[in-house]
Amino acid sequence: MNKEVILTGDRPTGKLHLGHYTGSLKNRVELQNTDKYEMFIMIADQQALTDNARNPEKIRNNLLEVLLDYLSVGIDPSKSNIFIQSQIPELNELTMHYLNLVTVSRLERNPTIKYEIKQRNFQASIPAGFLIYPVSQAADITAFKASIVPVGEDQEPMIEQTRELVRSFNSIYGEILIEPKGIYPKGNAARMPGIDGKSKMSKSLGNAIYLSDDPDTINSKVMNMYTDPNHIRIEDPGNIKNNTVFTYLDIFCKDRIYLEELKENYTRGGLGDIKVKKYLNEVLQSQLEPIRNRRKEYEKDRDYLYEILKEGSNVARNVATYTLKEVRDAIGVNYFNM
Ligand code: TRP
Repeated sequence: MNKEVILTGDRPTGKLHLGHYTGSLKNRVELQNTDKYEMFIMIADQQALTDNARNPEKIRNNLLEVLLDYLSVGIDPSKSNIFIQSQIPELNELTMHYLNLVTVSRLERNPTIKYEIKQRNFQASIPAGFLIYPVSQAADITAFKASIVPVGEDQEPMIEQTRELVRSFNSIYGEILIEPKGIYPKGNAARMPGIDGKSKMSKSLGNAIYLSDDPDTINSKVMNMYTDPNHIRIEDPGNIKNNTVFTYLDIFCKDRIYLEELKENYTRGGLGDIKVKKYLNEVLQSQLEPIRNRRKEYEKDRDYLYEILKEGSNVARNVATYTLKEVRDAIGVNYFNM
């Protein structure tokens, strides 16, 4: 029996941070290592260009950064196909076919797109390619017949739109495409706050700890972390809810017994922020050091990095070409090779 296919991806707009790590990268490595799935991991450069068309160097420069982040957390190119979206032109033709099955008003209703349009302050100047990127994302997913798409919860509207498109396509042209299921991170990892305590760690909010940050940077970010603003003197009782340091410890600390003691102590009063921050710093440093070291090793061999991407893209292209052929046959735009 064929293995179930998993597809995920990231836009190469910057280095990846702890939010990516806990929300998705860790999970991908686990899924990869079960050997139960065929994994495709896509660097979505073309999607990134939909709001960076005037700044293509940014995307180009971040391609290898994202790949390095993947490799350094343990994504293994011999088990997972890592490929570049723009190198699979078949995805664009699929997108064109799917665009006929979606209305402009449906596109405008996508909540993630709505949010991003506001955030980017596009107003009346929304790039058309940006508005339709959920359809191109449907092409990404369906081209590989992916049934499982592990993503952050902000991507749920994209999966929903993909599912609608698949149902619509299959009902018109026959059962060709697979309706994917999104899988989302649970609990704290779903919405890792930034170091400022704001709801979400993100590059654009400037509140991220990057996987590639050096030890001093990590330390100073931890020391500046948002805690309980009312916990002023050490002996004051502190609040561990909405206290970023404790949220991070909940995610990263493996010594649960010690963590419970810290929490009790902090809540009772008598435990200072600095002490807890120092402990969090130790915990993070020990987990990020091996990742950073692996990154440094991989950085030395750019040819090898491009080789990984080239090979992954070749494999991906073969699969997408096959699906596109099925789609063309189903629609009947196959006049010369019936
Ligand atoms: N939209 C995703 C993000 O911003 C990236 C992406 C593009 C993607 N195509 C995809 C994710 C297909 C999963 C499946 O992170």
